[in-house]
Amino acid sequence: MSRRTVLVTVLAVATLVACSADVPEAETPPAQLYVNRCGGCHRVYAPASMTAAMWEMQVERMQGELVRRGLPPLTKEERETLLVYLRRHGSGAPANP
Ligand code: HEC
Repeated sequence: MSRRTVLVTVLAVATLVACSADVPEAETPPAQLYVNRCGGCHRVYAPASMTAAMWEMQVERMQGELVRRGLPPLTKEERETLLVYLRRHGSGAPANP
């Protein structure tokens, strides 16, 4: 490998780690849905940064933001998947006191 290739690889890995550091279970479908649907307008907030109740409120508010920008709102299934995921990893969740 050339020096340049090594450098590019190191940078790519560092970026990947930096972007997904706050997202638990990053390779699972719910985490990917979260990153895809919730990371388009602002950074992806760490699930542990809010409680389950706060997430429910924020997700409702974001439906309005989606509609305002002419994007499709979350479907019932997407909303449920996200809330299950966010509740599970939110602060105050049993696994994350
Ligand atoms: C269409 C663009 C858009 C998408 C997609 C979006 N948001 Fe937002 N979000 C915003 C805007 C604009 C704000 C800032 C205004 C506000 O807080 O009302 C915001 C603010 C937030 C905040 C508040 C941050 C704070 O410091 O108070 C949270 C939490 C949040 N979004 C979570 C989410 C989640 C979860 C999703 C996925 C369901 C999501 N966002 C998807 C536009 C978006």
